[in-house]
Amino acid sequence: MVKGIIYIAASLDGFVARENGDLDWLMKQDTAGEDFGYDALMASVDGLVMGRGSYKTVAGFDEWPYQKPVIVLSKSLTQHDIPARLRDKVMLSRETPSDLMQRLDTEGWKAAYIDGGLVVQSFLRDGLIDEITLTHIPILLGSGKPLFGPLNAEIDLVHVSTTSYKSGLVHSHYRLI
Ligand SMILES: NC(=O)c1ccc[n+]([C@@H]2O[C@H](COP(=O)([O-])OP(=O)(O)OC[C@H]3O[C@@H](n4cnc5c(N)ncnc54)[C@H](OP(=O)(O)O)[C@@H]3O)[C@@H](O)[C@H]2O)c1
Repeated sequence: MVKGIIYIAASLDGFVARENGDLDWLMKQDTAGEDFGYDALMASVDGLVMGRGSYKTVAGFDEWPYQKPVIVLSKSLTQHDIPARLRDKVMLSRETPSDLMQRLDTEGWKAAYIDGGLVVQSFLRDGLIDEITLTHIPILLGSGKPLFGPLNAEIDLVHVSTTSYKSGLVHSHYRLI
């Protein structure tokens, strides 16, 4: 089965975005010269899977940041909502997480970067995640979109490594059992 990999940043109190989706608190971090393993992660995956909320944020950036295929899970978006400049980079899907992962497996994918808020929670709930790399940002937001949510059963993790950076970011890698 395709490996599901979460690689995400969260405030120390566990939020991935402000309530309105803003990432200003993340973008303002001065991380010049620090390597969080992002390039290695991107090299190791066949593509990304994200939810509509995350797609909307990234589509608003000046430049599309991904070289690999991006699958956007959404029941409300249609092909017409995808701007022409992104039509060869973004594929919409209405599949369930497990149907999608099974299809990607048959298409030869070995690993998928699972990104977003609700989508991350839903892949975790469905047992489709193998690794989590979480970068804690030294800020308490108090409210926002939570990284983790309800589960059907507890998930045991193996701690692989933690690196702390001069910027104050703390980067931890876990494997799911
Ligand atoms: N801190 C970070 O590193 C980081 C990383 C990524 C994203 N973010 C931010 O986190 C926020 C996440 O947004 P979000 O909470 O809206 O979550 P999301 O996971 O990005 O998008 C959720 C939407 O995806 C669709 N969807 C389709 N299938 C789904 C499924 N199986 N499970 C859940 N959703 C499914 C639904 O939209 P439809 O109604 O269209 O079906 C749902 O409302 C964004 O603001 C993003 O910018 C932060």
